[in-house]
Amino acid sequence: MANVPFGPSYDEMLNPSLIDKQVRAKALAALNRDELDPVNLFNITWKDADNQVRKVVLPPALTGIDANVVVMLGNGFPSGSHKVGPAYSTLIEMMADGEIVPGVHTILGPSTGNFGIGTAYISKLLGFRAIVIMPDSMSKERYERIRKYGGELELTPGSESDVILTLEKTRELMKNPNYKALAQFELFPNYRFHRHVTGGSAIEAVKGVGNGRIAGFTSAPGSAGTIAAGDQIKAAFPEAKVAALEPYECSTLANGGRGQHRIEGIGDKMCTLIHNLLNTDFVILIKDEETVQGVKIFHDGAESLVRMGVDRSLALSLRNLFGPSGICNVLGAIKLARYLRLGPGDNVVTIATDGFDRYESVLDELNGRYLELAPAVLDRWVHDIFLSASDDHVYDFRKPAMKERLFAQKESDWIKFGYTKEFLDSMRGPEFWEAQYGRVHEYEGKIRAARPPAPAEELPCISSR
Ligand SMILES: Cc1ncc(COP(=O)(O)O)c(C=O)c1O
Repeated sequence: MANVPFGPSYDEMLNPSLIDKQVRAKALAALNRDELDPVNLFNITWKDADNQVRKVVLPPALTGIDANVVVMLGNGFPSGSHKVGPAYSTLIEMMADGEIVPGVHTILGPSTGNFGIGTAYISKLLGFRAIVIMPDSMSKERYERIRKYGGELELTPGSESDVILTLEKTRELMKNPNYKALAQFELFPNYRFHRHVTGGSAIEAVKGVGNGRIAGFTSAPGSAGTIAAGDQIKAAFPEAKVAALEPYECSTLANGGRGQHRIEGIGDKMCTLIHNLLNTDFVILIKDEETVQGVKIFHDGAESLVRMGVDRSLALSLRNLFGPSGICNVLGAIKLARYLRLGPGDNVVTIATDGFDRYESVLDELNGRYLELAPAVLDRWVHDIFLSASDDHVYDFRKPAMKERLFAQKESDWIKFGYTKEFLDSMRGPEFWEAQYGRVHEYEGKIRAARPPAPAEELPCISSR
């Protein structure tokens, strides 16, 4: 019986002050010293060392709206994105259930990047071999990270919107009984992590901001894990509206549209199994070029932002915090606020899944295309993309007939993978989602029971079978 590391429970990820003090101190010390120290599992949280949610509040001078846009920052998670949270939650639930054993099972991570990075990283920390299955045209920084964490790569043809090929490849590899997939599009630990940990953190993030409530939440679904935070937000603030964002170039939920686009991590040409469609009020389309230009503005355009009236230290702090999907989420928040006519004191919460570190090549490509990017060009972009963002391409999905279209999309996407119509129909009622969420408490107990009381000097461990 080998000892393997075991990490935090759901409640500890939401509230790291519950973690044994010495373990937490050790984890914080390891954060920048040695990212491959398994104690970093205890850094899987939205909170900083002071137990505050990592966030920025974007002011009207940048957004052109009166409401606050509160952006929760995912780049402070180990491995550089919050996708490590669902990867960990799925793996730890399987370990707690005794389904997987380090050294015996190989972990498969179908992904367009960040979930694959998270899978490789968590597998490394918990002692598993990992294979990441992803399209071959993603940013090169993603492949480098996966290799750095010891993950093996199985590449399928295409880019972001060809993710279905990764799912088919995963099914094929799973014929080997020792291969276990962290199937983020269909497994509910992804839902549980984001509803409990991301949703709970969002509710805390608005304390002391504006009226302290959440009027809107926007998230561009890849797996539709993050958007589950909306379920928790609505439970706390019933007036809150949730918007799913899609690339204008690949508007699958909005109107069945399918096409190539460049917002890495989202817009995967499907309605994922774990997407709670009951709580999606709006679908909003965002043009991919604007998200890439937005990255340029945040990374290189601090002076333009200052000229628009943004505080200099805030403008400079944005430099490394956003990739295209984070900008997409901000643009969606602005459009939702405009559509809902939100006013001063209202808050729209959204997410920056990762930071700039994996998009250097995306900016190189943009710089190559525009050749001359004089300050006046960036000033114009700030104006056109943020300040003049309109409320066009907002689709209202609150009416039953519109919801029906989403249910139909889910059916067409998942019946072919063996799910029955009866099972898919069971997702039409809130009971299904409450039951899935209720299992947080079951795993809370299982994870805590599986590890001995936290030792002072050692990382908590369990015995593997
Ligand atoms: C950069 C980026 N943004 C957004 C998302 C979408 O998040 P979710 O899968 O929780 O819907 C992902 C998912 O991998 C991502 O990598």
